[in-house]
Amino acid sequence: MATSPTENRGTWNSKFGFILAAAGSAVGLGNIWRFPTEAASNGGAAFLIIYIICVALIGLPVMIAELSIGRSTQKNPVGAFRALSNNKFFPLVGFWGVLCGVMILSFYTIIAGWTFSHVFVEIFTFMGMDGAAGLLADFGNGYINAIFAILFMGLTILIIRGGVSEGIERATKLMMPLLVLILVIMTSYVIFQPGATEGLEVYLKPDFSMITGELVLAALGQAFFSLSLGMGALITYGSYLSKKENIVEAASFVTLADVGIAFLAGLLIMPTIFLAQAQGVEIYDGSGNFLAGPALIFQILPELFAQMGGFLGLTLGVSFFFLLSLAALTSTISLLEVPTSYIIDEHGIRRKKAALYVGLSVLVISIIISFNTGLIDVVDYVFSVIGLPLGGLLICIFIGYFWKTKSAVDEMKHGFKDIRDSWFTSLWSIFIKFVCPIIIIIILAQSLFG
Ligand code: PFF
Repeated sequence: MATSPTENRGTWNSKFGFILAAAGSAVGLGNIWRFPTEAASNGGAAFLIIYIICVALIGLPVMIAELSIGRSTQKNPVGAFRALSNNKFFPLVGFWGVLCGVMILSFYTIIAGWTFSHVFVEIFTFMGMDGAAGLLADFGNGYINAIFAILFMGLTILIIRGGVSEGIERATKLMMPLLVLILVIMTSYVIFQPGATEGLEVYLKPDFSMITGELVLAALGQAFFSLSLGMGALITYGSYLSKKENIVEAASFVTLADVGIAFLAGLLIMPTIFLAQAQGVEIYDGSGNFLAGPALIFQILPELFAQMGGFLGLTLGVSFFFLLSLAALTSTISLLEVPTSYIIDEHGIRRKKAALYVGLSVLVISIIISFNTGLIDVVDYVFSVIGLPLGGLLICIFIGYFWKTKSAVDEMKHGFKDIRDSWFTSLWSIFIKFVCPIIIIIILAQSLFG
């Protein structure tokens, strides 16, 4: 039975809960897997510095923009654009966001499934059950991919069915501190290992000659993906936020948490790559580059854990893949929440049903990809590499030239009275109208035609 949309929507219980949920969305495979990989293949510290600049100049302003749209309308991305302007084009931007959410979720669930299956790979390896471990670690096996994708999606649907405060907020409040704890313990262990300094040096000693146009593009793309920007995830999370809260402060916390965790993950992974090399594990591909992507996390690290052997190897291995699974889960729930909130608001379907229908539909795509994992790169390219910056660009144009930055600043004023005429809002307006769109257009043009 259809209910009124507002009856269905829900709100965050506390500011802290919202910040953890938004940070949970941001912190994911993008931080613990993709960031260290990008850093490793782009000169370590040079990438880190450019990444931080991109986050500050583009990421933070766009995050504040998305939260303002969401909180001002209390609607999903499609409804939000419709509520703020008569222009018929912009609800399509919201719809593009919903579509990006669906498509990113469809492959993200499979990679998340790999991280979860590796918890068992580590256990089976420890128990000497090499056959079972080998079976689970075989990404070419569509059935195994599909089973773990179904498991992961099932968990995600269960949390989303629980609602905003009882589902998303409660789950992330539990998972995020656990994630930080595991990450800090593992990083502290790794950086004090003899041989870790080489990795730390590559990561922390900048070699500015490494900075190229390509590196800047990679850093910007990473900023969009990692901060969950450009597809309305933060419009949706902002729509459940109370007018009492300070959007600028919340966005700053979320950004800091995201960058902080990516930095820590780099401190863990970079030395680990070199420790693995010292143990005889091959860390370069045929052309002398670091083995990146799945090979880094699912090949190099398990080999290292296996060579450490015994209970230590098991503990580190299980903790690491459990950590990745947690980080992925707090992101998949935000990816599923975007299309779910769209169905709830726009079609008046109850949350429990909406979450199930959307989740199962996305799962159909995931299962197809499970058997054709080559599609991951294609879907990733269209919907995250191009899709997210494109969405971010259109959000900036919408605020800058249609809804107007003044209206967004009025929205920020709730919960932050003194911001009205501050230097910050003038600067933010200039960024949204000019700086962010121009930089994003350059990146998009480069990646499409460069
Ligand atoms: N930010 C997530 C990560 O770093 O893994 C990925 C993501 C989640 C992208 C949610 C977009 C999104 F809406």
